[in-house]
Amino acid sequence: MDEFLTETIIDTAAEALRHRFSLSPEVGIILGSGLSPVAEAVKAEAIIPYPDIPYFPRATVEGHAGQLIVGHLEGHPVMVMQGRAHYYEGYSMAQVTLPVRVMQALGVRTLIVTNAAGGLNPSFRPGDVMVIRDHINLIGMAGLSPLRGPNLDRFGPRFPDMSSAYDRTLRTIARSVAQEAGIPVHEGVYICLAGPSYETPADIRFLRLIGADAVGMSTVPEVTVARHGGMRVLGLSGISNLASAEEGEDTTTHEEVLEAGRILAPRLETIIRGVLRRL
Ligand code: HPA
Repeated sequence: MDEFLTETIIDTAAEALRHRFSLSPEVGIILGSGLSPVAEAVKAEAIIPYPDIPYFPRATVEGHAGQLIVGHLEGHPVMVMQGRAHYYEGYSMAQVTLPVRVMQALGVRTLIVTNAAGGLNPSFRPGDVMVIRDHINLIGMAGLSPLRGPNLDRFGPRFPDMSSAYDRTLRTIARSVAQEAGIPVHEGVYICLAGPSYETPADIRFLRLIGADAVGMSTVPEVTVARHGGMRVLGLSGISNLASAEEGEDTTTHEEVLEAGRILAPRLETIIRGVLRRL
């Protein structure tokens, strides 16, 4: 696939999916590292492995099932990505965000995006949930935008506004659902790094200083494309580990991130289902 998405690529992938199910998905859900179990609650009409979808990136990382589940959740027609592709896997920004474009082409108007993230805010604990209030597009500032290249006018404007990327109403609902369920919840700023190495203590001090509460390697490109396409977005970070600013004090491993997913998946499922019930 070329570096940039074209309408033909998006339409080809969308067409291949359209005849696999009869419903029209309204809500897209992206499940991050270790969070695939959330999709088990979906009453599935179709389960489609990513390799069966033209141009779709495959999820190569452990903890990402790599399939699309289309069905109903809390009465809403949903399209759930059980696992995602990341830039560090070698995909272009366009490839990483193709699924969001395909969702848009199929009529999805609301995107719920989840991730496993490292906690930067000292008040966070592993297992907590952070509702994303805003993000810092650090990789975008460095030039890695999924919107680089010819603008697809049919999908959105050349210069999309990002002043309220994460829908205020959805954030409020998500926090109240979490509180009512006794789930420890915060609201904060997510920052996206390219990865795949975790952060040095100096990185962590820098990220805190510039106002980030949680750090990860995803989500921001997808949200950028979703907002370009005019979708409403809810972002949820599961805090899987604490990012330490002290040398050698606390190492981070992918196993730790997946382990935290066992606590976080049911929590995120509760929040997502509660939000859908109130939509
Ligand atoms: N840093 C970056 N990405 C992550 C982390 C982290 O500590 N935890 C889960 N994803």
